[in-house]
Amino acid sequence: MRSRAQIKSHPIHPMLVALPIGLWVGSLVFDCIAAARNDASFAAAGFYCAVAGCVGAALAAIPGAIDLFSVVPDRSSARKRGYIHGVLNVLALGIFIAMAARRGVAMPDGLSLLLSVIGVAVLGVSGWLGGTLVYRNQIAVDHRFANAGKYRERELRGWDQPVCNQSELSDGQMLLARKGNQRIVVGRCPEGMVAFSDSCTHRGGPLSDGALVGCTVQCPWHGSQFNVHTGRVVAGPAQQAVETYTVEVRNGEVFVSPNVTKKSAGPRPVVPGDSQQVA
Ligand code: FES
Repeated sequence: MRSRAQIKSHPIHPMLVALPIGLWVGSLVFDCIAAARNDASFAAAGFYCAVAGCVGAALAAIPGAIDLFSVVPDRSSARKRGYIHGVLNVLALGIFIAMAARRGVAMPDGLSLLLSVIGVAVLGVSGWLGGTLVYRNQIAVDHRFANAGKYRERELRGWDQPVCNQSELSDGQMLLARKGNQRIVVGRCPEGMVAFSDSCTHRGGPLSDGALVGCTVQCPWHGSQFNVHTGRVVAGPAQQAVETYTVEVRNGEVFVSPNVTKKSAGPRPVVPGDSQQVA
């Protein structure tokens, strides 16, 4: 899903995380050299790198938190992963603040070196989770499938407001409507307008970020496919139907009734070859 904290579609968080990664690792390297050579200038360099890394980490946390709370679906495995990523980053920041505070520009002692090693290790685990959030969960990835148009979302004050005008969506295009924590996808398929939950029933992947082909939507995370009229699972790994909602078009304006769930299709029936519906 596209990042909210971005400049011309370029997410800011990955740009800033280079600061704490480079500076904290640099701090550890300088401190090791300082200890090995008993060189006060390397010790000072290590201290200032640690402090600058703390400032960089605090700056990187701002766009990271914006994306975590506004982009990552709240009932998903990615949200849990994002929380752990954030906690580890705060832990690494605390470790480097403590290390810098106790030693100042003086030569690092054994405990300071140990704290830096632990801080870098924590940062490494956190970076591994951050990579999973981007490369597997596709957080901050701006999908532009053929014909799907630009990723669109709309914040609503209430569901009595129109979500969009019918003419805004052509066949195969989707729009994410949000009101608080509720996320509903409005899409257009050959049979007209449809509305369904954004949350994939497998691990909460954002269906609005997937592909709508014919009357089937495919989740971008692990490829589950759902019929957008009934919510029925067309192809797993999801086993439970996704919620679908009643859509009304009045004078060209599209309205969704989020509390009226259309027929629920239950668990997935086995249909040979049904995974072929979306390539
Ligand atoms: S979250 Fe796994 S297929 Fe959607």
